[in-house]
Amino acid sequence: MSLFISFEGPDGSGKSLQMDLLVKDLTAKGLDVLALREPGGTAIGEDIRSVLLDPAHKEMDPVTEAYLYAASRAQLVRQRIRPALEKGTIVLLDRFIDSSLVYQGIARGLGTDTVEKINRYAVDGLMPDATFLVYIDYEEGLRRKKHQEGHSLDRLEQEKDRFYRKVNEGYRSLKDLSPGRVRLIDGAGSIDQVHSLIWSQMQDLLSQKGLLP
Ligand code: TYD
Repeated sequence: MSLFISFEGPDGSGKSLQMDLLVKDLTAKGLDVLALREPGGTAIGEDIRSVLLDPAHKEMDPVTEAYLYAASRAQLVRQRIRPALEKGTIVLLDRFIDSSLVYQGIARGLGTDTVEKINRYAVDGLMPDATFLVYIDYEEGLRRKKHQEGHSLDRLEQEKDRFYRKVNEGYRSLKDLSPGRVRLIDGAGSIDQVHSLIWSQMQDLLSQKGLLP
């Protein structure tokens, strides 16, 4: 039996930290776990990641961006995720197709239908059994960012901020786009509180799949 879980959430939601904690718990239970991230997770994907995140590429068109994320994803699905699931490994993935739907589809404005089409062949029919959407609202994200950076936002940061507001709204609609698969986790609490919300959902999933020792 295999289990494929993705983690989603706006930047600053704490999803990557929560994924690390979950990996530790599952490993402590003696389960075989593979943790991956997007974009990246393969040598090709990591190269694509550097192109995508390089601040020098200011001229990158949103369509190019969508295809690059999808290309990294296509390689990851075929080279790592599918083979691991076939061996019965639990796969935890930091961001997947939903990130493209939200960032490129909604925030960049390509539309979720277009982004879904671009990604259909990339994911090859493989979707997560469940997606933990670690959600914090826009104001909380802003508060955390200000706290981290120790100052209020300048003009450029404010512009970036409008984008994050759209990302935030996009994530809010995600659970309605994929009810059943997407599980909304309130990310506003302490690290421990959020972790226990995820862990209780995870136990249900493990028992449904007969993976609890
Ligand atoms: P990363 O540093 O990994 O951010 P995070 O820790 O928040 O995941 O950078 C990934 C960035 O790429 C992040 O801003 C979200 C964005 N992204 C997309 O725009 N579309 C996608 O399909 C994916 C997977 C990520």
